Amino acid sequence: MRKIRLLLLLIIFYHTGFAQLSWLGGGKKVDPYNYTQKKSASYSNASIATAHPLASAVGAEIMKEGGNAFDAGIAAQLTLAVVYPDAGNLGGGGFLLGRNKDGKNIAIDFREEAPGHATEDMYLDADGNAQSELSENGHLSSGVPGTVAGLFATLPYAKLPFDKLIEPAIELAEYGFAITEKQADELNEIKADFIKYNTAPVPFVKVKSWEKGDTLYQPELAETLKRIKLNGAKGFYEGKTAALIVAEMQRANGIMTLADLKNYKAKTREAILSDYRGYTIIGFPPPSSGGIIVSQLLTMIEPYPMRQYGYGTVASMHLMVEAERRSFADRAEYMGDPDFWKVPQKTLLSKNYLQNRMKDFDPDKASVSKNIQPGIIHESDETTHISIIDKEGNMVSITTTLNNSYGSKTVIGGAGFIMNDEMDDFSMKPGVPNMYGAVGGKANAIAPGKRMLSSMAPTLVLKNGKPFIVLGTPGGTTIPTSVFQMIVDIIDFDMNAVDAVNKPKFHHQWLPDWVSIENGFSPEVINHLENMGYTMHQVDGIGRSELIKVMPGGLFETDADKRGDDSVDGF
Ligand code: DON
Repeated sequence: MRKIRLLLLLIIFYHTGFAQLSWLGGGKKVDPYNYTQKKSASYSNASIATAHPLASAVGAEIMKEGGNAFDAGIAAQLTLAVVYPDAGNLGGGGFLLGRNKDGKNIAIDFREEAPGHATEDMYLDADGNAQSELSENGHLSSGVPGTVAGLFATLPYAKLPFDKLIEPAIELAEYGFAITEKQADELNEIKADFIKYNTAPVPFVKVKSWEKGDTLYQPELAETLKRIKLNGAKGFYEGKTAALIVAEMQRANGIMTLADLKNYKAKTREAILSDYRGYTIIGFPPPSSGGIIVSQLLTMIEPYPMRQYGYGTVASMHLMVEAERRSFADRAEYMGDPDFWKVPQKTLLSKNYLQNRMKDFDPDKASVSKNIQPGIIHESDETTHISIIDKEGNMVSITTTLNNSYGSKTVIGGAGFIMNDEMDDFSMKPGVPNMYGAVGGKANAIAPGKRMLSSMAPTLVLKNGKPFIVLGTPGGTTIPTSVFQMIVDIIDFDMNAVDAVNKPKFHHQWLPDWVSIENGFSPEVINHLENMGYTMHQVDGIGRSELIKVMPGGLFETDADKRGDDSVDGF
């Protein structure tokens, strides 16, 4: 009997893992088997909002231990790669927009890029028809991942050693964490895809159904993280991890090579600065379209009395949608990787140009987008955003992605992480929509080493030159329009963080010519808009935003989107 009890105790001890957890078990308040979501709170020293409570908790702990917002960003991103495998990642990419305490803006581009053997027509069949199955799933859909390079490019702005920042992720991968109900449902839903697109067993598939509270162990991912801890970026882009990536690609039609991985570099870009009603808006430049679009939209509506129009009215929605229609037409024509295509950024952002674009705005009538084959908007939200601020005055806004839910669904055998399907963000053929319905042409055509155009829009707002808002969201092409709305909600409609994040959103992207709209707008307003010529298209959810607003007394009002498992933390 005693022996059985001892054995049981040992099993429980192993299961809860605290015997082995040097970081998580060291008296910290991060319990991976028992945690809850906190949607909204105000903090005075530091705050963070992410898509998962454990990532927010890790980020907050790191700042309590003397790290700044950049430390927390690195640790939270690594943690999301473990606890939020739908979008948090090692096998994807993204953009970090930061502003440090000395007022230096930092824009780190760690977007994936096309492998060296990629070709402009690689997703077209012999008749020239687009094959989205290949750009959206499996081995051929992946760009060369940028996340690990991005983390190391961020490290000079952090204060703590990398070893410390990666430790929570290693332990969470090795000793597991309890999955949420949403995650259990998603993993059950996507099981067939994981079986279809993999050549080796993956930790996300089990015989029985997943249930809320089940522990997800990722031992191979833990080993990959340990190689990164030991060897830095080379622990990912060279050596064993790189060999495992290439071996996986070779097992199933992939084209990524050791040279592609070794040559990958994160790039530093020049943040976009613009002014909206006296506030400074800091946005991310190409290869994301996000910063340009947000800035264009704000400039196009600035001459109008938005405050008088109010939130969710015919006047404000009509104006905002017409600005969106024009901006997305520009996106399709002019935007791509600036290292491969000359993006006319200066003109696209100039007041003159934008006022001209709105010259044909008719306050009583919807305009009509050029009539080409409409695309289908993909409505999953499988990118993820992190917003962080600290008392020193550092602001960090990171949006990162595998593209759609669980990326390519291909897990690198032996290395335990999911690869992106970011190649679908290229325009595979002029006029053919990608999974978000976005069309493009030459500017965003595939070329070796080129970065696919993104819509991600990590954004910072300053008031009188001081930190005011840190924000961002996933949502494909709806990202810049959501960021736009949240800025207007706060600056023009005086909303608090909770309302700006959670109130219903809408979206128009030129093509397809309809307004995507969440539940909750007044039926009279919708009717009126339909009578003006709009097609309204009800969607389940737009974005999963994370927003921090600095209050007049200096408190950080922090909100995580109600639409997901998102959660805030801080102190
Ligand atoms: O970079 C982009 O614009 C897309 N790959 C983002 C994908 C995304 O937000 C997923 N959520 N719907």
